[in-house]
Amino acid sequence: MKKLDFTKSLMVLAPLAGYTDLPFRRVVKKFGVDLTISEMISSNALVYKSEKTLKMIEKHESEDPYFVQIAGNKAELIRDAVLILNDVDGIDGIDLNCGCPAPKVFNHGSGSNLLGDLKKLEEMLLTIKKYSTKQYFSAKIRIGVDEKIPVEIAKVVAGCGVDLISVHGRTRAGKYKAPVDYDAIRQIVEAVDVPIMANGDIKDYAKAKEVLEFTGAAGVMIGRGAIGKPWIFHQLKNNEEDISEEFKREIILEHYDSVLDYHGDHGAIMFRKLLHSYSKGYKGASEFRDIINKVSDKHILRDTISTFFENTEVQL
Ligand SMILES: Cc1cc2nc3c(=O)[nH]c(=O)nc-3n(C[C@H](O)[C@H](O)[C@H](O)COP(=O)(O)O)c2cc1C
Repeated sequence: MKKLDFTKSLMVLAPLAGYTDLPFRRVVKKFGVDLTISEMISSNALVYKSEKTLKMIEKHESEDPYFVQIAGNKAELIRDAVLILNDVDGIDGIDLNCGCPAPKVFNHGSGSNLLGDLKKLEEMLLTIKKYSTKQYFSAKIRIGVDEKIPVEIAKVVAGCGVDLISVHGRTRAGKYKAPVDYDAIRQIVEAVDVPIMANGDIKDYAKAKEVLEFTGAAGVMIGRGAIGKPWIFHQLKNNEEDISEEFKREIILEHYDSVLDYHGDHGAIMFRKLLHSYSKGYKGASEFRDIINKVSDKHILRDTISTFFENTEVQL
């Protein structure tokens, strides 16, 4: 297993439920991302060992190191989920989701709900710490539920012995739109002695650099900025904007093939939403979307993708 090198600024792909499955992470990994994390996995579903959930924790061989993110609010379930993960080779770390704002997660007492009950948060984290045999243990937090209490939360999390903390600089109430509070992230960096991954609205090299400098964080975590733009990590690492259109087309087709490989023929339909992102900003994108929304044959779809990206150009 490759160790995380905390001496340089780390680039991490954020977990994005419904997007960052194995094929997505595999494509992103080509561009030099340092750490990939599974989509959020409910500890309950993991313990129940549903086939779908077990598939969701699989990784591609290039993912090294690779973390699985779990969610939950019951110590026994968290413990049992950790015990299951302990038996799966190739998982290098377990991350606890302490940030998901979605009502179906929050109303169950999981995700960002834990930020409103720091005793419970501590209990969940200490359970992972106690039972995990993995190299790494981490948490992904927001800065509060309604009110901002970044330092209070971070101190509790750090006190549980995590190896890194990813901080999405919004409260639960801020959902995905409120301005990201990088100052709160900076306060966390100053308050605890654990590597912090700054997260929220980082979409290009200039922003990543600015956030790293302003917060003093040990790395950045990118989510939506990688949807339709997996090469962003190459740009972040090398400060290069330019990726040739031909190369982009190759990557999109490779992503498509990998989705079919992994999800079977149904992958063709699943890939539509990714094509919506990939085609953003190109001439004829709206007509292209109308067409692909009606195509379900995997060969026809591949040809349609190939032809579109060969002949289109960026709309200025
Ligand atoms: C569609 C979507 C799915 C997400 N799924 C997860 C998830 O499974 N686990 C998690 O910790 N955060 C999840 N997040 C939050 C992101 O990881 C990230 O914290 C947030 O989008 C802010 O970063 P960004 O501006 O770079 O996207 C999700 C966000 C979006 C938009």
